Amino acid sequence: MSAPFNERDPKVLGGSDAATRILSVTEIETPFVEDVYEKASLWYDWWFGPTLHAGRLESIGRLGIQPGDQVLEVGVGTGINASLYPDHCQVTGIDLSMRMLRKAAKRLGRRGVTNVRLQQMDAEDLSFPDDSFDVVYAPYTISVVSDPIKAVHEMRRVTKPGGRFVFLNHFLSTNRRIAWIERFISPVTVHVGFKADLDLPAFLVQAGLEPVSIEKVNIPRIFSLVICEKDD
Ligand SMILES: C[S@@+](CC[C@H](N)C(=O)[O-])C[C@H]1O[C@@H](n2cnc3c(N)ncnc32)[C@H](O)[C@@H]1O
Repeated sequence: MSAPFNERDPKVLGGSDAATRILSVTEIETPFVEDVYEKASLWYDWWFGPTLHAGRLESIGRLGIQPGDQVLEVGVGTGINASLYPDHCQVTGIDLSMRMLRKAAKRLGRRGVTNVRLQQMDAEDLSFPDDSFDVVYAPYTISVVSDPIKAVHEMRRVTKPGGRFVFLNHFLSTNRRIAWIERFISPVTVHVGFKADLDLPAFLVQAGLEPVSIEKVNIPRIFSLVICEKDD
């Protein structure tokens, strides 16, 4: 499942070309991710609820959601982020894991949220037509999916021209020592739901993205909010 970590591999070294560098030392398949999150549904809210929440709160205000907007949340999970949208927009939340979605449905019901609908779907194969949403947002999901480039191409496809597709995520540190540790632990962290070493510059180049902004968020500020716009 995971490629062995070889620090000397030129494709792993930070100085190598972003166009050819591997995105992460770990390779995971979608059924593996689904299985991890079916299990994680039991404890996700306890750990990833509070630790990631400052980033959720900061980022949602930066999405620029306008009254009447159609919003897609990719990897809606247990609905923690989904309960934060303004009620003047219509939100669709998709996720692979039925158990995460059941928790989300309960949360939204408890809070009386009526503008969010939930669907089981694979981020790498969205069943929506092209140009469907004003804002497509993946909070803490792009380092979770098995193929981040496929997922972001799908996010871009379903964004309306002039709309935004946005991801909030932890990426590989620019500090070489920390990056070494992140690559070392990544084959372990996938078992609790994420790759610790997704390489942002390589991801942007290989996905053909030119973000309009990249901003550090959360506490500590080791997460990035990456906002991209789809050309008209
Ligand atoms: C770290 S959680 C983020 C949940 C939520 N956005 C939040 O802020 O707490 C990532 C979610 O992405 C989902 N996921 C992983 N791969 C996916 C895929 N290919 N398609 C759809 N959802 C996926 C997982 O099941 C999990 O619920």
